[in-house]
Amino acid sequence: MSEERLEHSVNTSKVARRLAIKYNYNADKAEIAGLLHDCAKDLDYEILKKMVLEYNIKVDKIIHRIPRLLHPLVGAAIAGKEFNIQDPVILKAIKAHSTGAVQMSLLDKIIYLSDKIEPLRDMAGVEEAREMAEKDLNRAVLMVLDRGLIYLISKSFLIHPVSIKARNNILNKVGGFGKCLKIV
Ligand SMILES: [Fe+2]
Ligand SMILES: [Fe+2]
Repeated sequence: MSEERLEHSVNTSKVARRLAIKYNYNADKAEIAGLLHDCAKDLDYEILKKMVLEYNIKVDKIIHRIPRLLHPLVGAAIAGKEFNIQDPVILKAIKAHSTGAVQMSLLDKIIYLSDKIEPLRDMAGVEEAREMAEKDLNRAVLMVLDRGLIYLISKSFLIHPVSIKARNNILNKVGGFGKCLKIV
């Protein structure tokens, strides 16, 4: 892991720990998931592909076409096999940190968000997301998911359908569907 990645991982774990305490989740689990979420990020694509075979990781067709989405899956396998993390909730949060998940657990949301708002991050809208993270976890996750999708569309990149489902489900949780229906 590069020094910069290590710093990002430590920062993510610290933000995750703080958010976990704020939203009544196990702070140690959040810290571990934050520390390990990018443990496969610096591996070469060829090595990632080898590990997919070695660890028998299920990879859907779309992920084959979006190489950056392999590292969460391989990362969860490494966390399990090499760091002996057996808690499925932690492993799922690692898996879900790039795309989100159709149904996001509290830890999924904490890790997804911490990864995107830790102090080294400087994407457009990050300050608003940091402020929202202090008030409403679902809305903050929605803001970051939306920003991510807007970015992918602006670059004409492929979007994994799980991200759309994650976004729609969180939108539903914050009452967004009601708003849409009224407009229609
Ligand atoms: Fe990542
Ligand atoms: Fe990350």
